[in-house]
Order: sequence, then C-alpha cells, then structure tokens
Amino acid sequence: MTELLRNPEKLSRAQAELHQVIGKGKTIEEADISRLPYLEAVLKETFRLHPIAPLLLPRKSGEDFPIGGFTIPKGAQVYINVFAIGRDPSIWDDPDKFVPDRFLGSDIDVRGQNFELVPFGGGRRICPGLPLAARMLPLMLGSLINIFNWKLEDGVIPENMNMEEKFGLAVQKAQSLKAVPIPI
Ligand code: HEM
Repeated sequence: MTELLRNPEKLSRAQAELHQVIGKGKTIEEADISRLPYLEAVLKETFRLHPIAPLLLPRKSGEDFPIGGFTIPKGAQVYINVFAIGRDPSIWDDPDKFVPDRFLGSDIDVRGQNFELVPFGGGRRICPGLPLAARMLPLMLGSLINIFNWKLEDGVIPENMNMEEKFGLAVQKAQSLKAVPIPI
C-alpha cells in the first residue's frame, strides 16, 4: 500500500487492471488471482524492495563448502542477505525504483527456485506459510484497491512519505502508513 500510494500511476494501473478483469468495487476471489498479472508484479516488486525477513533464518553449514572461490567452514552460521540481493545493481536495472513492470513477462517467481528473489527463503527452511500468503496477499491488496480509492493523511504527499524501516529478524515500517479510504 505504501509503495502504491507513493507511486500513484502504478496504483492507477493496478486499479485499471482490477476494474477491467473483476469489475469496479468488487472483492477478489481466489480464482481471479491468475488473471491479474500486474497485481502479481506489484507484490513481487514489493517483496524485492522490502523483504520481510531480510537475512532469512540463520543456517549452519553441515560440511566445508566451496562456493565462488571461498570455503564456508563446517559449523559456520550463514545468513543470506535477501535485502542486498533485491537491490543488487548487477541483477536489477534501477534497483531502488519501484517498477512492477520488470516482472511482466518474466519467469521469476517467489517460490524459492529463482535465487534473485527469495522473500520466502528456500530449501528445507522455506516459509511453510507461502501457499497461504500467496493467496491472501493478492486477495487483500487487490480488494483494498478495487473497493476504495486512497488518500494520504493531511500534509503528506508521495514525495515526503516516511519509508524508514525498523530492522530485525522481521522488518516493519518505522512509522505506520496512515491512509484514508474513499469508497469507489
Ligand atoms: C508475506 C508473507 C510471508 C513472508 C514474506 C514470509 C517469509 C518467511 C521467510 C523468509 C522465512 C524464513 C525462510 C528461510 O530462511 O528460508 C519464513 C519462515 C517461516 N514462516 Fe513465513 N512468511 C510469510 C507468511 C507466513 C505465514 C502466513 C505463516 C504461517 C501461517 C508463516 C510461517 C512461517 C514459519 C513457521 C516459519 C519458520 C520455518 C522454519 O522454522 O524453518 N509465514 N517466512
């Protein structure tokens, strides 16, 4: 919601897709999700820039493991910096910009197979809530923007929105988003 309110043209585009595919003012059903590629791209772009667990869960190397000219010794604790991968300019064009379009027509998925985008982690520790989240997020976000238009609180404009994040095992916004819903 924060990125969409900060990028009103992207919000309009997501709403236009919803209005066309679902119909203005309607909630979204699970079966509609696969017909909303731009909404899916918005979610992927949000995961890329704002991964909930920026270092995933810590892992421990089971054996000496050579990788990229280094050796990770047996027993070492390993953190995967998903936040840095998401903003790596050798992987992404304009990495700091919110550009959902980069995922349109792309095969990159969030299910742990494409290592440039692993917001749910991967391997045996992959998030067990992924199947639930993959359904709930488009249903919630899509319904919120298909049923309401949104206005920022008084005095706040897209350019001065507070984007600060509170780092921890799980990241949160430092200051909650305050937005006013206006029924469509
Ligand atoms: C946007 C939604 C969510 C995101 C981005 C997310 C992300 C993650 C990540 C990155 C991990 C660590 C995976 C790794 O290190 O490889 C994790 C673990 C976990 N997640 Fe989620 N999660 C989400 C929703 C959920 C939901 C809805 C549930 C439960 C209903 C859930 C339950 C868990 C549990 C129990 C673990 C720990 C698994 C373990 O001990 O190995 N998550 N999640």
